[in-house]
Amino acid sequence: MQRALYRIAQEALTNAAKHAPGALVRVGVECRRDSVAITVSNTAPTRSPAFDLPGGGNGLIGLRERMALLGGTFTAGADGDGYTVSATIPHHTSTAE
Ligand SMILES: Nc1ncnc2c1ncn2[C@@H]1O[C@H](COP(=O)(O)OP(=O)(O)OP(=O)(O)O)[C@@H](O)[C@H]1O
Ligand SMILES: [Mg+2]
Repeated sequence: MQRALYRIAQEALTNAAKHAPGALVRVGVECRRDSVAITVSNTAPTRSPAFDLPGGGNGLIGLRERMALLGGTFTAGADGDGYTVSATIPHHTSTAE
């Protein structure tokens, strides 16, 4: 659970810095009865992203697969002028982390 939450925050914050420089970013974590929900949202960028960004476009795919293994939910996409990543992870996850 902790590793999964860390990985989502790490990837989403890195993405906000890479793809939406200058944006405001909000990270929310909500402990629920059966799960923990994490949401990372950013506003529109205020600067153009750098042209020579490293990365193969696999970060979100990897998170989506990881959340599926844990029996959680995962969404990522444009949110108005900004972008939002949301995941819900059940407390009783499988052994796959
Ligand atoms: N916060 C964001 N704001 C705007 N676009 C985003 C944001 N996060 C992701 N994207 C878009 O979604 C695409 C896929 O994101 P993903 O994290 O999978 O790949 P990446 O960041 O380009 O590369 P990698 O994560 O493999 O280093 C990005 O290339 C970008 O176009
Ligand atoms: Mg990424």
